[in-house]
Amino acid sequence: MAARRAMERAYAPYSEFRVGAAVETAEGEVHAGCNVENASFSVTMCAERVAIGTAVAAGGRSLRRVYVCSTSVEPVPPCGVCRQALAEFGPDLEVISEGSSGQIRSWSLLELLPAQFRLEEHAQADEDGRNAGAEGRT
Ligand code: THU
Repeated sequence: MAARRAMERAYAPYSEFRVGAAVETAEGEVHAGCNVENASFSVTMCAERVAIGTAVAAGGRSLRRVYVCSTSVEPVPPCGVCRQALAEFGPDLEVISEGSSGQIRSWSLLELLPAQFRLEEHAQADEDGRNAGAEGRT
């Protein structure tokens, strides 16, 4: 419901592809976002990341679910960048997506992004204070 309301406010004059997202925090709060496009296309923000920002600004840090809806007939999964953005706050959250025909699909985030990047797993410094990474540097 929150995702759909946000979708109606999407700013998508270039693609005309409207997306709404709503994230649910561990505390049960729901925060929504929509896609916000830009004349400089790469500046565009996806609905999911706008919703994450709204949740974090309200104090949410742990996400358990994201709802996505769009103008696509088929339910759309979050794009790759949004999968990594979601992983920061809910490594295995539930992703529920609804197409414009009412068809619903769901996935776990681990299913959509099994190899998630986490800096703390790769940021051990070498003796000179540089990050060596898992394999070290030559
Ligand atoms: N978009 C989203 O908002 N979320 C996604 O996961 C995929 C794509 C938006 C970005 C752009 O405004 C439009 O959909 C077309 O790519």
